[in-house]
Amino acid sequence: MTGPVEIFEVGPRDGLQNETRAIPTADKVALVDILSSAGFRRIECASFVSPKWVPQMADSAEVLAGIRRAPGVSYAALTPNMKGLERAIAARADEVSVFGSASEGFSRANINASIAESLERFAPVAAAAREAGLPVRGYVSCVCDCPFDGAVAPEAVARVAAALRDMGCYEISLGDTIGQATPEAVDAMLAAVLKELPAEKLAGHFHDTAGRALDNVEAALARGLRVFDAAVGGLGGCPYAPGAAGNVATEAVHDRLTALGYDTGLDGALLSRAATMACAMRPPRETIQQEAGR
Ligand code: HMG
Ligand code: MG
Repeated sequence: MTGPVEIFEVGPRDGLQNETRAIPTADKVALVDILSSAGFRRIECASFVSPKWVPQMADSAEVLAGIRRAPGVSYAALTPNMKGLERAIAARADEVSVFGSASEGFSRANINASIAESLERFAPVAAAAREAGLPVRGYVSCVCDCPFDGAVAPEAVARVAAALRDMGCYEISLGDTIGQATPEAVDAMLAAVLKELPAEKLAGHFHDTAGRALDNVEAALARGLRVFDAAVGGLGGCPYAPGAAGNVATEAVHDRLTALGYDTGLDGALLSRAATMACAMRPPRETIQQEAGR
């Protein structure tokens, strides 16, 4: 296999949002800057959600103000509602994302809305973003399993992905939020989604709780997907998905893709330096265990 595969770096957002200790803004800026130099074309580094819900992302505007903007790199932000979009525009995000769920339980827990309510809320956000010249990406969470509702039907994922496409999202990222999917489940989910959208409009977003994320990347590659979200250093989790581990590590995806003959366009040495920096931002495992009372 050959050809380009893009890694959409989400470490500074998905990776860091779950850290409970305050990470200095300057450290976040330094991480984004080294990632820019490693060759990513898109880096998600901000989230204009409620700072009461996700305190770690409260300094997103300062992060976007502090980074060195590398030419050709799109700095992305999450925007759950109009207020988030206004903040993202003021902070000069290059693109924004709305984020929905294929399961009702996670939708409620994560954004305090049913799936239908969330889609109604996203439509004007997407329209206003596009009017402001900002590309809009859509996320679908819980594409195989939900921490509250259990197994998720592939058709439910296809319905939400199609709704996000209909409101103008240029790409839909399919999230295995709790990292429990198997390659077989990913394949079945994609079979349903591909009836609605071509592979060029889809991205895979795999968390690595069960250690199967790289196998799931391969299952998605076999279905034609060529964009994968990943977090440098394997940072992360989701504050509203109990037990979810970090995103699959960018450097592991890069290594696997390279071994398979694909070209990520990334600088491996700079990626390693970024991974070291990212890991230093996370407390050591013993500290996490102590904090969790284990
Ligand atoms: P709500 O409480 O229903 O919202 O939250 P509300 O409209 O009733 O507002 C309540 C308060 O929040 C008000 O302030 C608003 O001004 C404020 P108060 O009057 O109480 O002082 N507020 C905001 N402040 C700043 N920016 C905003 C904003 N919106 C409202 N944009 C809301 C609804 C969506 C805001 C909330 O549920 C929320 O922020 N949720 C975000 C949760 C989140 O960030 N989760 C993690 C990201 S998703 C993810 O990680 C999954 C993904 O990686 C894919 C995957 O892995 O599956 C993408
Ligand atoms: Mg995620």
